[in-house]
Amino acid sequence: MPKTKWTQIEEVMTGEFTGKTIHSRGWIYRTRSSGNIVFMMLRDVTGVIQATVKKGNLPDAEFEDALKALIESSVHITGTVREDKRAPGGYELQVTNLSVVNFAEPFPITKDQSPELLLDLRHLWIRSRKITAILKIRSTVVGAIHSFFRDQGFYEYDAPVLQPNQCEGGSTLFEVKYYEDKTYLSQSWQLYAEAGIFALEKIYNMGPTFRAEKSKTSRHLSEFWMAEMEAAWMDLSDVVSIAKDEIHYILMQVLQKNRKDLEVLGQDIAKLEEIASSEFPTITYTEALHILKEKEGMGIEWGKDLRTIEEDKLMNHFKTPVVVTNYPVEIMAFYKPKDEKDPKTALCFDMLAPEGYGEIIGGSQRSTDIAAMTERLKEMGEKVDNYQWYFDLRRFGSVPHAGYGLGVERLVAWICKTENIKDTIPFPRTLLRFKP
Ligand code: 4AD
Ligand code: MG
Repeated sequence: MPKTKWTQIEEVMTGEFTGKTIHSRGWIYRTRSSGNIVFMMLRDVTGVIQATVKKGNLPDAEFEDALKALIESSVHITGTVREDKRAPGGYELQVTNLSVVNFAEPFPITKDQSPELLLDLRHLWIRSRKITAILKIRSTVVGAIHSFFRDQGFYEYDAPVLQPNQCEGGSTLFEVKYYEDKTYLSQSWQLYAEAGIFALEKIYNMGPTFRAEKSKTSRHLSEFWMAEMEAAWMDLSDVVSIAKDEIHYILMQVLQKNRKDLEVLGQDIAKLEEIASSEFPTITYTEALHILKEKEGMGIEWGKDLRTIEEDKLMNHFKTPVVVTNYPVEIMAFYKPKDEKDPKTALCFDMLAPEGYGEIIGGSQRSTDIAAMTERLKEMGEKVDNYQWYFDLRRFGSVPHAGYGLGVERLVAWICKTENIKDTIPFPRTLLRFKP
């Protein structure tokens, strides 16, 4: 028997198949019957189409199955494509054969469910149109990150997930039993990347990252994917400009590949296009405080980190992402060096996204001063001995170097305009949830 040629819904919507009989397969998205007709919406990965099942157009037993099949039943359908202005997408299928692959049980997700229930039923909810659209965009973003770095001669380089040291502060470490010992889940690829640049010079990675974030927010996950880069012979301004190029590149790719998905999500495509073709400004932390003071009437003491509320107020004054550099050195991680031109500040940056999506990138030049780092680690109560391998990188051919990390889910949340970061990853892990 010849293999069946399956036509995808997206292909039908091109009009190329009008008047022709095609084979389609997918899931029942919605269904209702009226007398001798069943109106089904069928979905596959590419879209949804109306399928009209009329008694008499197909064997009676198949019509009975169409009446019985509940939503999310999987089906094979043969039908003739007809143009119909009233149907969603402008085409419908007049069904001549229907075979139910699996009769679904009553689907537990109905309209207007609470976010908690949708998370309990995440394994079923990921097939929703909203999550499907977000996951398609996420796939484009991830692909774009790889091609962006590879096209510029960066090597993909992997760090261990089990690490004996902290990188971003001990308070968010996940401890793991390691035989008779203990270790931690990776908080960042960075420290190991700093070893890699002495071999490969320009490297990048995208990998799972773990933080025991004790607060419930719409921006924090306990397990997320970070896309990081590290490069020898680069300084702060070099990596800031790579970070801006990377975001521009990712936006262009999404605009090229995911217009339909952005529409499903109700995102403003013209606005994203405008952002993709605009320059992103760079300001200093001190300038950010001035803006907050002058335009928002918020007096923040110099030296305090910017909290969510301050980042959001600051971003009221920008339509594009903004890079903020030179945060106070004492609130920064131990590896961020002070700026000799302004020694109270560090050679570091964050990139903030507009519309309340907050910090999407954090990065810096890296300190090469063993004594300064030792002192910072001691202040933090760290065992300095554990960092001797890291200090060796400063002892054997040390070079200026810099890098940054991009939070994949934060970026996807902003691009998709989703209210919660949890919807940007198939199975979110948070303070309150590690199931299903
Ligand atoms: O600013 P962070 O902590 O920087 C680092 O980890 C550096 N070691 C990276 C580097 O220089 N190679 O984290 C980087 C980004 C943040 O800007 C944010 O987008 C994201 O990672 N991020 C989180 N995303 C989701 N949930 C969390 N709990 C996150 N914590 C950080
Ligand atoms: Mg940060």
